[in-house]
Amino acid sequence: MDGFEFNKIAGAVLATALVVFGLKELSSAVYHSETPEKPGFAIEVAESGATGEAQAATAGPAVSIGSLLASADISKGAAGAKACAACHDFSKGGPNKTGPNLYDVVERGIASHEGFAYSDSMKARSAEKWTYENLDAFIKDPKTATPKTKMGFAGVKKDQARADIIAYLASLSDAPKPFPAP
Ligand code: HEC
Repeated sequence: MDGFEFNKIAGAVLATALVVFGLKELSSAVYHSETPEKPGFAIEVAESGATGEAQAATAGPAVSIGSLLASADISKGAAGAKACAACHDFSKGGPNKTGPNLYDVVERGIASHEGFAYSDSMKARSAEKWTYENLDAFIKDPKTATPKTKMGFAGVKKDQARADIIAYLASLSDAPKPFPAP
């Protein structure tokens, strides 16, 4: 193959490449695909405000349990807690059912109610207490807060509905524990 032949082949290859690229350019000009203005998913950002920075720092929930509790409605919570009553008794000195008695559960040691056979995963948390934060996380998503818990309940996802239930639980006490600061 002499130099001229090689040039012809190289030229043909180059020309083909140019056509291919040209078509690509052309098609992207014809079938102009726009990037959507809004992405398909929304990224939640804590509302800016006095507490905005603190929340971002701890990557906590958008609204703190303290501020949700501050506007909680105990009677709505009592109604919401009917979902729990299938398994939990709420009365003072009441029995354990499928789940342990929940009278005065706020600040009670985790897995500490007498006579109830807790799961191993719940027992593993027995050094902790049922603080408002712990209750909030557990009632929101039991299986995430305490993997392998035997509480067969999906959780209460709505923040205010959950805070209402927690406020109701807090009221079931001889000495209700103060809510955390909003
Ligand atoms: C289907 C039955 C069932 C339902 C419904 C249910 N629970 Fe439970 N719950 C349990 C069981 C069982 C346990 C024990 C979990 C373990 O040992 O892992 C438990 C444990 C708990 C504990 C820990 C108590 C302790 O002594 O450590 C809390 C708090 C609790 N449940 C709150 C609730 C609330 C609030 C609701 C309603 C919003 C609810 N549960 C609904 C079955 C249930």
